Amino acid sequence: MLLLNPGPVTLSERVRRSLLQPDLCHRESEFFALQDEARQRLLATYGLDPDVWAAVLMTGSGTAAVESMTAALVPANGRLLNLENGVYGDRIAQICSQYGIAHERVIFSWMQPLDLDAVTARLDSAKDARFTHVAVVHHETTTGRLNDLRSLGELCRARGLRLLVDAVSSFGAEPIDFADDSLGAVAATANKCLHGVPGAAFVIVRRAQLSQAASRTYYLDLGRLARMQDQRNTPFTPAVHAYYALVEALREFADEGGRPARYKRYAALAEQVRAGLATLGIEPVIAPEQSSVVLRSYQLPAGMTYTKLHDALKAEGFVIYAGQGDLAKTLFRISTMGHVTCADMNRLLKCFARQL
Ligand SMILES: Cc1ncc(COP(=O)(O)O)c(C=O)c1O
Repeated sequence: MLLLNPGPVTLSERVRRSLLQPDLCHRESEFFALQDEARQRLLATYGLDPDVWAAVLMTGSGTAAVESMTAALVPANGRLLNLENGVYGDRIAQICSQYGIAHERVIFSWMQPLDLDAVTARLDSAKDARFTHVAVVHHETTTGRLNDLRSLGELCRARGLRLLVDAVSSFGAEPIDFADDSLGAVAATANKCLHGVPGAAFVIVRRAQLSQAASRTYYLDLGRLARMQDQRNTPFTPAVHAYYALVEALREFADEGGRPARYKRYAALAEQVRAGLATLGIEPVIAPEQSSVVLRSYQLPAGMTYTKLHDALKAEGFVIYAGQGDLAKTLFRISTMGHVTCADMNRLLKCFARQL
C-alpha cells in the first residue's frame, strides 16, 4: 500500500529496517549517541549553527512540538497574534486558550492567502496591548497552501516581534530562512518530509529564546527538554525506535542530497500528478505557485464522492486523503511525501483514468 496522505509516509526499506535494531535502554550511552546524532542532523538539514540554534526532541506527534513551542516561548507578559487560514492555525489558537496565553486571532478564509495588509493593520493598531509574537503555519496542510514566511518575517523584523512557525508539514522540504532574525522557533515532526515514523517530534529554537522560556507544561516543557538533552540526558522514556528511524531517515536524507534535493523530488512528483489529473479534467483548488510541493488539493470530479474515489484507489494500493471540515464534500488531497516514485504516480494516474 502506498500512503499519499500527509504522513505517516511510505517508508523506504532502509528506514523500515532501522526499526529492527537492538533493544536499547534510554539511560545507556548508546541512546544518548542516537539522541545527539538526531539533534545534530536536524540542525544540519538547514545548515544551522549549534551555538545559535537547538534541536529539541520529544516523544509525541507534530502537535506535541507545536504545543511545546507555543507554551514555552510566549512569556507571561507576552502577547501573540495568531494568523489562521486552516485547521492547524486554528489549533494554535486552541493551544493558547488551553494555557491561558494572551493572544488574538486573525482568521482568513481557508481558501485565501494571509492578507498581509490586514496583519499589518492589526499589529499596528494594538497600541495599548502590543504584540510580542506572531504564530503561523508554514504549509497549511488543510489545503496545501504555502504561507508567505518571508513577507511575514519582514513585518515581524520591522516591529521587533518573534515569529513562531508550525512547520510540521514543510520542514525538510520547503525553504525556511533561518537567517531571518525574527524567526524564534519552528516545530516539526519525524514522519512527514523527513520520512521517519510517528513518535518523534522536535522544535528548532533559537538558544537565546530558551533562557526566557516559560514552563507552562510538565511533559512538553521545552526549556527542560533542551537543558537535559544538552547534558546528554532525558527526563522521560522516549520512543527509542522512532528515534532509530529518525536518525536513519536523516542519514538517507543527507545521502540523497539534503533539503534542496527533497524539494526538487517533491516538486517533480506534485507537477506530474497535477498535469496528469488535468488531462482527466481534475483541477487543483489552489494555484501551483501558492501551493507547497508537499501536498495538493484537487476538486472532486462531478458525481464522484470522496468515499467512492478513496475506496476505488485503495483497492488498487493507494491511500489518498479527504478534505477537512466542509471541504470533505468538495475536495481530496494527494501528498507526494515518502518513498514514492514517478513510476508510482504513473500507476496512480492510470487508476484515476479507470475510475472516471
Ligand atoms: C501543519 C500541521 N500542523 C500540525 C499537524 C499535527 O500533526 P500531528 O497529527 O502529527 O499531531 C499537522 C498534521 O498533519 C500539520 O499538517
